Amino acid sequence: MPLQVAVDGPAGSGKSTAARRLARELGLVYLDTGAFYRSVALLVLRRGVDPEDEPSVTDISAGARVSFQPGTGGGPDRVFCGGEDVTEAIRRPEISRVVSAVAAHAAVRENLTRQMRLLAAAQSVIMDGRDVGTHVLPAAAVKIFLTAAARERARRRARELEAAGQADGLTEEDVLAEIEARDRGDSSRAAAPLRQAEDAFLIDATFLSPDEVTALIKEKVLAWKQVREGGEETEN
Ligand code: DC
Repeated sequence: MPLQVAVDGPAGSGKSTAARRLARELGLVYLDTGAFYRSVALLVLRRGVDPEDEPSVTDISAGARVSFQPGTGGGPDRVFCGGEDVTEAIRRPEISRVVSAVAAHAAVRENLTRQMRLLAAAQSVIMDGRDVGTHVLPAAAVKIFLTAAARERARRRARELEAAGQADGLTEEDVLAEIEARDRGDSSRAAAPLRQAEDAFLIDATFLSPDEVTALIKEKVLAWKQVREGGEETEN
């Protein structure tokens, strides 16, 4: 049976860094579920559609085919929407500003969740997002809820944007305001809001390095594997 690991948490908590590293170390496929919502947000902006217009955004999500390809030379995985490589385009600040509104529509979530589940059924995965442990993969073997103080998350995000040349004059305060608005939108929506699953391990990464976070999650996955292998031996 494929192994499923769910890593949820607010924007900038370090989910993707830890999940990407663990995927490499444990031989899992990494799936960034935020990339699905970001790809739909990109199409919404390009087509001049109002992100609040549920029927139009739902139509766009029904036609959006998101896929991933391993990055070359140790680089991050590439995200494709249709045939187009949208890896950089979906990280831009204007997408971050509208993606929460796009992700609030229940029918949009249904369309994208279906695609995510299909990918997870076929292979062992580590998926990061907001509702992976509560909704996309409720039976995931290991669930993590990764959080950190908003100020620290903003500091890290601002540095990432700077490094990617996408800061566009945004200050850390601007990034903090955007992150807090997104947290509010993601946590308060009716459809599959951001929340910790009852059976998720909580990790507060405010004072932890990416290495420390990765090691903590790895420990949980290895403990689960050990229990499962022990169970299989007893059964045989
Ligand atoms: O992880 P991220 O910042 O790339 O996610 C972008 C947005 O997508 C986030 O603000 C909320 C939405 N999202 C979601 O609603 N459910 C998920 N499983 C993943 C992301």
